[in-house]
Amino acid sequence: MSEKAAYYITSPIYYVNDVPHIGHAYTTLACDVLARFKRLDGYEVKFLTGTDEHGQKVEKSAAEAGLSPREFCDKVSARFRDLATAMNFSNDDFVRTTEERHITACQELWRRLEANGEIYLDKYAGWYSVRDEAFYAESELEKDENGDLKAPSGAAVEWVEEPSYFFKLSKWGERLLEYYAETPERVLPKSRRNEVKSFVEAGLKDLSISRTSFSWGVPVPGDDDHIIYVWIDALSNYLTGAGFPDMDDADFKTYWPHVIHVVGKDILRFHAVYWPALLLAAGLEPPRRVFAHGWWTNEGRKISKSLGNVIDPFRLVEEYGLDSVRYFLMREVPFGNDGDFSRGAVVRRCNGDLANDLGNLAQRVLSMIAKNCDGTVPEHGELEAKEKDLLATIEGLLADCRVHLEGQAIHAMLEAIWRQVAAVNGYFSVAEPWVLKKTDSDRMNTVLWVAAEALRRLAILIQPVMPDSMARLLDQLAVPEDRRRFDNLGEGSAIEPGTELPAPEAIFPRFEGGKDQAAG
Ligand code: MSP
Repeated sequence: MSEKAAYYITSPIYYVNDVPHIGHAYTTLACDVLARFKRLDGYEVKFLTGTDEHGQKVEKSAAEAGLSPREFCDKVSARFRDLATAMNFSNDDFVRTTEERHITACQELWRRLEANGEIYLDKYAGWYSVRDEAFYAESELEKDENGDLKAPSGAAVEWVEEPSYFFKLSKWGERLLEYYAETPERVLPKSRRNEVKSFVEAGLKDLSISRTSFSWGVPVPGDDDHIIYVWIDALSNYLTGAGFPDMDDADFKTYWPHVIHVVGKDILRFHAVYWPALLLAAGLEPPRRVFAHGWWTNEGRKISKSLGNVIDPFRLVEEYGLDSVRYFLMREVPFGNDGDFSRGAVVRRCNGDLANDLGNLAQRVLSMIAKNCDGTVPEHGELEAKEKDLLATIEGLLADCRVHLEGQAIHAMLEAIWRQVAAVNGYFSVAEPWVLKKTDSDRMNTVLWVAAEALRRLAILIQPVMPDSMARLLDQLAVPEDRRRFDNLGEGSAIEPGTELPAPEAIFPRFEGGKDQAAG
């Protein structure tokens, strides 16, 4: 396999202390879009997601639920797998940190760090937040209105004093700064990279990487009194998914050098500071890219269980339909920025871009073909220059999409595609095939063919974001399933005159005041 042809994309693995919410669905959805795009573009893709099942937080939640940690993890982890089905995620694997293969990988990472002299035993005395599963320096904490110290995330902290193994993080600062300066850009968006750089430039302290005050975790090899800090355990899932410690394994060699981690901004420090340092220290390649996305608020307010405004992705999909939700989340907010969720915004975005711009166009073109061309793809005459340009521009979009997705700019890809949806709408309105019907039926046929061919190309490009609806549109255009990859975008796979088309059907719902009706 050539170097270029492999792509390894990972979502964070989710804590099982809570059921899935919109934030979880969002991160994995972005990975799914990137994975689907690369598969259609001919890459060998591995897309990994999973659940983070160890640690004090999960142990506590299990006890509160009256279950053993194992039973509790099985139950909640299953909800995350259900989410993958409900959201049509195309993950190739799902890692659970309680699996044997993961425990093996995690302990092997530890052994390598130890063998390289990167770990020492000492004592930790400092602040810890169970909710964040993170250690904090006192200087990072703030007092709340009751005078209690809080983590920057708002989570409670507790004083911890216990024996602990440490990772010599402090010696990796210079090397990390070099890593951030390398190309392709290691950390995106750029503003986040700058934050991470400043954090490293300010000087790194050694990192506590084991705990002794509870037992739900991976034992430290050779010292059962300690369990491995849950973040070291969690981060090593990315190695597990690539077949580590079997480094001769074809999977590891193929995928590891290409790994891209998509994470939320809250967990960037773990992925862009601790993780590359740990990998370098263990003699492994650091990630090719870490991309941090922003956070959703709900109607302007922070999403939290205590405010009771958590958005349930399962309900959202029931209410608006899967592809509307997928499109909205990927298009509404530039990937990397924070964004606000509101029902009004979903309705506006989906009615405008989907029901009107794309849905109506498809419906108009396909129903004119059904009525005026006996339901078969019409013959076409010589195309006018502007028609050739239109089709060539849509084919050429692929190159733009590749550039956008190289930087994980999924919104920019959709923006570029929808500019062409608008161009096809403009073309169709000006060409007025309904007038040509009476005056020049050959020209009408040509216009309908051009519009249908434009739709075929657009649908192929939109598949990563809305796989189901675009499959339906491509079915309506009678595009065979083995001709839906990006190498079929051009003329060579154009729709063939004479092909019989199924009866057209609306592909997107139109929402009115929360209720939906089929788009006309
Ligand atoms: N278990 C760790 C990750 C370990 S990865 C080696 C973890 N899990 S989590 O379940 O708390 O959350 C994971 C992801 O959900 C993060 O990427 C986080 O940014 C994302 N989100 C949680 N709430 C969110 C929003 N309100 N909006 C967008 N994403 C948010 O952290």
